[in-house]
Amino acid sequence: MQLKSITAFLSVITVALGATVQNVLDDIAAAKAQAVTLENAIDSFPTTGGSLAQALAIHQQALNTVSALNKTTSDVETVPLPVSEADAASILDAVIDAKPVIENGLTDIVTKKSAIDALPISGLSALVEQDLKALNTSTLALGDDLIARAPADLLDEATSLRAEIAAAFVTAIAAYA
Ligand SMILES: *[C@@H]1O[C@H](CO)[C@@H](O)[C@H](O)[C@H]1NC(C)=O
Ligand SMILES: *[C@@H]1O[C@H](CO)[C@@H](O)[C@H](O)[C@H]1NC(C)=O
Repeated sequence: MQLKSITAFLSVITVALGATVQNVLDDIAAAKAQAVTLENAIDSFPTTGGSLAQALAIHQQALNTVSALNKTTSDVETVPLPVSEADAASILDAVIDAKPVIENGLTDIVTKKSAIDALPISGLSALVEQDLKALNTSTLALGDDLIARAPADLLDEATSLRAEIAAAFVTAIAAYA
C-alpha cells in the first residue's frame, strides 16, 4: 500500500472507532428508556401474589439495563477529547434527566422486597441483590468516566450527581443484603 492510502485507511479506522457526542446522547437516551422498562417491570410486580415469571422479567430488564449502560460507557471512552463546554453540558443534562428513573426504580424495588421474599422459590432476593450490585457498578463506572472527561466548571455538579445516585444504590442494596 502507498503511504497515502495507508494514511487514508487509518483515518477511516479512526472515524469508525471513535464515538461522537451525539452517539453518547443517544446511548444515554436508550439507557434511560431501558431503565423505564425496568422500572415498569418493578412497578407491575404486585405486593401480593406475584409470579416467578414477573420476578424473572425484572431480572431480564436489569440485565438489559446493564448492557445499555455499558454500551454508553464504551462509547464515552472513545469520544475524542476535549469535549466542548456545550456538549458536556448536554451530556450532564441527559444524566440529570435520567436520574429520577433510577431513583424511582430503586425506591420501588425496596417496597417489593417482602413480595419477592413471599415467592415459593428461594433465592430471588439474592438475585435482586446481585442485579442491584451490577447496576450500581455499571452506573457508577459510567459516572466515573463522565467525571474524568468533564470540564472543570461542571465537575462539582457531576460529582454530586454521582454521589446522590450512589447513595440511592446504597439504600436499595442494604434492603436486600
Ligand atoms: C458492565 O460494566 C461493569 C463496569 O465496568 C463491569 O464490571 C461488568 O462486568 C460489565 N457487564 C457486562 C455484562 O458487560
Ligand atoms: C457501588 O459501586 C461502587 C463502585 O464500584 C462501590 O464502591 C460501592 O461500594 C457499590 N455500592 C454498593 C452498595 O455495593
